[in-house]
Amino acid sequence: MSHSEQNTAESVTTQTEQGLYVNPQALTAHLPALHYRDGALHMEQVNVDELVKHYDTPCYVYSKQAILAVYQAYTESFASLPHQICYAVKANSNLAVLGILAQAGAGFDIVSRGELMRVLAAGGEASRVVFSGVGKTYSEIEYALTQGIGCFNVESISELTLINDVAKALDKSAPISLRVNPDVDAKTHPYISTGLKDNKFGIAHEDALAVYQQAANLSHIDIVGIDCHIGSQLTEVEPFVAALDKVVELVHSLRDKGIELRHIDLGGGLGVRYIDETPVSIDEFAQALLPKLTELGLTIFFEPGRSIVANAGVLLTRVDVLKPTEHKNFAIVDAAMNDLIRPALYQAEMAVIPSVLPENGLNTDDTQAWDIVGAICETGDFLAKDRLLSLATGDTLAITGAGAYGFTMSSNYNSRPRASEVMVADDRHQLIRKRETFEGLYADEMLWQDK
Ligand code: LLP
Repeated sequence: MSHSEQNTAESVTTQTEQGLYVNPQALTAHLPALHYRDGALHMEQVNVDELVKHYDTPCYVYSKQAILAVYQAYTESFASLPHQICYAVKANSNLAVLGILAQAGAGFDIVSRGELMRVLAAGGEASRVVFSGVGKTYSEIEYALTQGIGCFNVESISELTLINDVAKALDKSAPISLRVNPDVDAKTHPYISTGLKDNKFGIAHEDALAVYQQAANLSHIDIVGIDCHIGSQLTEVEPFVAALDKVVELVHSLRDKGIELRHIDLGGGLGVRYIDETPVSIDEFAQALLPKLTELGLTIFFEPGRSIVANAGVLLTRVDVLKPTEHKNFAIVDAAMNDLIRPALYQAEMAVIPSVLPENGLNTDDTQAWDIVGAICETGDFLAKDRLLSLATGDTLAITGAGAYGFTMSSNYNSRPRASEVMVADDRHQLIRKRETFEGLYADEMLWQDK
């Protein structure tokens, strides 16, 4: 896929009084994993309705080639410098996804023991793991140190002293970087903006030097890098450049104090095109940052999550009930907010496209505006609103951009088993997570025993 395609401003939507029409063919032209062949939606070479026959719905499907293409775009764009791409596991932590990236040579950004165990189970190398997060516990630090991870991204002084204590108890030296909060506006949704003064993340830029000096005096701490992550779904390059400028300034001040680093970690956050967004391409992102990075002589780390997996995935769902009312038309599908919470939580607009194109395109008589909703007992349970679609019960719909923060944020709310997950590569498909069973939902629970 050509990543410059992601950066075209050409709209794939038409806004009418009734609702938003997302042109499925125009949309999929921007999504390397998907295309229509003879009117039928395919992921790579596999017809998605074939997948529905095999695996039923709701079902997450990911394209191996699409995942690897973005990973490779990162490694190629930064090829001129020593670099390590640490895929952010939280975006999609299925073992098959992690395994494919591990085989391609990726490192991993983790935020919990659970994520580290997944990485190791998938064949990832501990030495290529960075550990982020504001609340690492004693036992998590102990486990990560024992496994020999590459770096702890430290977010507070108390965490720093805790890591030193654990390392001392294990008679090890803990590799660390400080996560600096550069106080720049990422210009993204407030829930996913992390680099502002009043966010809980990182160590204030102005305090960082003093904390590094403190770290240098700790017996079991090995300072290896500097880190920042300013937010997610950033579509412009300027906030990254502004953050980098502040971090570079710190690298120089640290050098003046005799503290030499080995790497600089710029976090994740590069946005994707869900519908009409125009995020900067990975290549443009690299071109904007490389000149400032080259002169540093450090290894460059990134922690991309969304940009690697979002558009490699779809959530397939079936239309179960059509419920036109006087004010609104509701299409009740078999996926819900428990499967995909982004629309409910962030008002995220995600595209919903049919598995089979309507024969006469948009202007058929049966095209209407639909709210695509789940069966959960909450008004907030919607996947998309006011979308112009021609629907019948039994139709398969694909929600695109669902490869990131889809399954990983899913839950069992309303006692709904979580969806199955499937990987597609060329003309092959394989189950990579079974659909949960109803019995499994309460298998770990016990009845109260009255004595
Ligand atoms: N590094 C750190 C320290 C992070 O906190 C995150 C994401 C990443 C890397 C990866 O960022 P990405 O490349 O994926 O933007 N659930 C939200 C997104 C939350 C992002 C949290 N941190 C959503 O669905 O939009």
